[in-house]
Amino acid sequence: HTRVLSGVQPTGNLHLGNYLGAIKKFVALQEEHECLYCVVDLHAITMWQEPDELTHNIREVTAAFIAAGIDPKAHIVFNQSQVGAHAELTWLLNCVARIGWLNRMTQFKEKAGKDRENASVGLYDYPVLMAADILIYHATHVPVGEDQKQHLELARDIAQKFNNDYAESIAKLGAPEEFFPLPEPLISGPATRVMSFRDGSKKMSKSEVSDMSRINMTDDADTIAKKIRKAKTDPEPLPSEVEGLKERPEARNLVGIYAALADTDQAAVLAEYGGATFSTFKPALAELATEKLTPIGDEMRRLLNDPAEIDRILGDGAARARKIADPILAKTKEIVGLIGS
Ligand code: AMP
Ligand code: TRP
Repeated sequence: HTRVLSGVQPTGNLHLGNYLGAIKKFVALQEEHECLYCVVDLHAITMWQEPDELTHNIREVTAAFIAAGIDPKAHIVFNQSQVGAHAELTWLLNCVARIGWLNRMTQFKEKAGKDRENASVGLYDYPVLMAADILIYHATHVPVGEDQKQHLELARDIAQKFNNDYAESIAKLGAPEEFFPLPEPLISGPATRVMSFRDGSKKMSKSEVSDMSRINMTDDADTIAKKIRKAKTDPEPLPSEVEGLKERPEARNLVGIYAALADTDQAAVLAEYGGATFSTFKPALAELATEKLTPIGDEMRRLLNDPAEIDRILGDGAARARKIADPILAKTKEIVGLIGS
């Protein structure tokens, strides 16, 4: 039995990296797996969010999931804070995870910046909450972008240490030896790390100040075309082989984006565009990106016109998520030796 779980933070500016690295994969996985897709609002508030914006952004991520093709009836779409078991399991896992493990997390170091003393305790604990998101459902597969690889490894380490530390109790209760299955990351394809359009060495991100650095999921056709036209590149034509992209981060980024949008790989894109200049390739990419993204943006806007319906979908998803999470939380408490039903 497989179960897929992933999450996206409601922190605004959903972009092409979120789409290609995560959401587009969520859609594909629905065919063959049971899936839970979570709007991780508790992760968002590890950095201060304006309350009205947070509320809007939770609905926007939900709308993006559905507009991209996730079926909230066949699968489970919900926001994290409505399922109390995530936060409760986090506490139990906090007592298993080691400070030394968290001290190695590179995303914390980046987000906390120089003034680490002033970062929230939540930001430090962020990876344990993420482990709880996954383990509370005994999820087996987790589709994410490359930047989440280290957090996934931590989730596996936490699961393994829990299974070891409580092996006797798990056996005594007749639960499977691997009480928390070790979750597999799903990180593959040509766009696991989409880069900024202004700097090929930085990942495309929600928080980069310049809007020209990213394509937003809600950008219109003209904006998409302009951003691609102005994207930083080198002056050389495209190579004919993938090897030739090695030292060319900007070219590699655009070819990877094209490949992911077209459901193919870099080699196939270069077989068609090898030798072409960016003045040929960029308009082709803009046309493809517009064709794939603008219907999603239009559908997001349509869905956001009815916030009550989005909230209803989240409430329904949360109720179904609780049915899976609550018994696993109860069993976890029993394994630890806590009293209560
Ligand atoms: P976040 O916006 O940080 O909640 O990320 C949501 C999902 O998008 C995660 O699976 C990330 O790994 C993925 N993601 C974020 N930025 C990028 C990027 N530049 N390229 C590929 N995937 C990304
Ligand atoms: N930390 C992830 C990110 O920033 C979001 C996330 C939270 C997540 N919980 C998760 C992803 C559980 C996968 C599984 O992108």
